[in-house]
Amino acid sequence: MELRINGQTYEVDEAYESGNLLWVLRDNLGLMGTRFGCGAGFCGSCTVHVDGVATRACMTAVQAVVGTEIRTIEGLASPEGELHPVQQAFIDKQVPQCAWCMSGQIMQAVAFLEETSNPTEEEIVEAMKENYCRCGCYVRIKDAVSTAADVMAQNKTTVGAA
Ligand code: FES
Ligand code: FES
Repeated sequence: MELRINGQTYEVDEAYESGNLLWVLRDNLGLMGTRFGCGAGFCGSCTVHVDGVATRACMTAVQAVVGTEIRTIEGLASPEGELHPVQQAFIDKQVPQCAWCMSGQIMQAVAFLEETSNPTEEEIVEAMKENYCRCGCYVRIKDAVSTAADVMAQNKTTVGAA
């Protein structure tokens, strides 16, 4: 079985073919940026993108994502190593405390901002509300998503004007 992840093709070991995407990513393919939190679809720490949609890898059968384009936190930066505006904003705003939830928070935010330009504060809260942070960094998460939205809007304007 093959999967497309971050623009590359990966061969999945037979032993993992009936499992879920989270363990294929972490244990089989060594993409450890996607985190295991609750393992039951509640916390969002395992969020990845499947064809651009934020998806909980712990609840996703690997068989169901064959033929899709999967994106994980490892695939967000540019090939030259430039961080995605959401990643940069989370650093600039010093969002993480323990950081366990953060790759899921960032993947959720990226999927949201790719669909929504110039979101309101209420839209950000709504989009992020199912991603839990045990350290309670919610105010900084909201600020960082808002900052990233501004940067992404600015980048679009710049590209459009070029
Ligand atoms: S580990 Fe997947 S939702 Fe919590
Ligand atoms: S930063 Fe610790 S769980 Fe979110």
